[in-house]
Amino acid sequence: MIRFIKDSKSKSDAEHTFNRTGKVPEVNDRPRVFVTRQIMQEALDLVGTVAEMEVWPDEEPPAPEILRERSSGTDGILTNIMDRVDVALLDASPRLKVISQLAVGLDNVDVAEATRRGIPVGNTPGVLAKATADVAFALLMSAARRIGESERWVRRGEWTLAFHPLRWLGIDVHDKTLGIVGMGQIGLEMARRGRGFDMRILYHSRTRRPELEAEHGLTYVDLPTLLAESDFVSLHVPLTEETRHYIGEKELRRMKPTAILVNAARGPVVDSRALYTALKEGWIYAAGLDVTDPEPLPIDDPLLTLENVVIAPHVGSASLDSRGAMCMLAARNLVAGLQGRELERCANPEVYQMRDNSN
Ligand code: NAP
Ligand code: GLV
Repeated sequence: MIRFIKDSKSKSDAEHTFNRTGKVPEVNDRPRVFVTRQIMQEALDLVGTVAEMEVWPDEEPPAPEILRERSSGTDGILTNIMDRVDVALLDASPRLKVISQLAVGLDNVDVAEATRRGIPVGNTPGVLAKATADVAFALLMSAARRIGESERWVRRGEWTLAFHPLRWLGIDVHDKTLGIVGMGQIGLEMARRGRGFDMRILYHSRTRRPELEAEHGLTYVDLPTLLAESDFVSLHVPLTEETRHYIGEKELRRMKPTAILVNAARGPVVDSRALYTALKEGWIYAAGLDVTDPEPLPIDDPLLTLENVVIAPHVGSASLDSRGAMCMLAARNLVAGLQGRELERCANPEVYQMRDNSN
């Protein structure tokens, strides 16, 4: 049975609750879960085979206090990047056996605290890597060939001169140098796309990946070298304390004035005020952003006054196939956690070691 929560006020559960048959739900001892947003029905159906479920129906995410309230008393939660899973929520949810995140990034979840409490945290790596790299590469090309800017110009009705040899000149992508920061699953997919455009690929990552270098034609360099030598710098690191404002004024000033920055990681990986100045003053040529700081980006954000930035509203994994695969993986992770089995994709597998040690 699925309960769709109608609102967050103090109505009784009975007032909020209905099932697909319209019958009053039975009280039973099946595990209870809270799903913080509508997801694909097939995934909900899978969770429904083992659990009683509440699904937040609104487009807007539940406010933190509502999220806490709705999670308390549950055995599992299925979250996404807009939901803050912090100590307060964990304190309020003493029954929690699993947190299943519908995303690969986990910067909204206090994974260390979940680990301390022995709660496995699932996420959805891999199944979205190609889709996200596609969007990052699309932004790279749009920024280089001025697609966003020229499309806005067409829509404003300014296309009155059919063709001019010196109008709309952009920057070639092929045969250039692509610098990838964070050589994980998405970074590697980005490298593959760059190779398809005959690009030289530099990378910088926390862990060097020699096993990939020969096969994919990658050259490992330090960050300052990558920034100075790349025509395109594409960011694919998680947001952590170390990577917050990883790209700031110093880094932007190291880049070529003809270079393009792509961010499909997390907005705060880039200092957005420094990026604005860099784009405005021409330290770099352009930027392509799938993520911003904050999200959603307010309409009066200075970045939106610039033509040399193309911005997508965090759509990296937003293809039907990839979101479908993410929803199913998140549902399988949730079900596994409720049943006490190891999660298919677990961000803190140490919890299983801790369990073994305590047995
Ligand atoms: P991943 O496979 O874990 O790759 C992340 C890479 O970043 C790893 O190689 C990691 O190194 C490296 N890294 C971590 N900290 C670093 C640091 N301080 N300096 C340099 N490199 C560092 O993850 P992924 O699946 O590629 O996803 C990457 C990120 O993309 C996610 O965390 C998420 O924030 C973002 N994302 C965005 C979208 C979107 O819609 N735009 C979609 C999916 C993901 P190690 O090998 O040492 O761990
Ligand atoms: C999306 O941003 C993700 O981390 O999967």
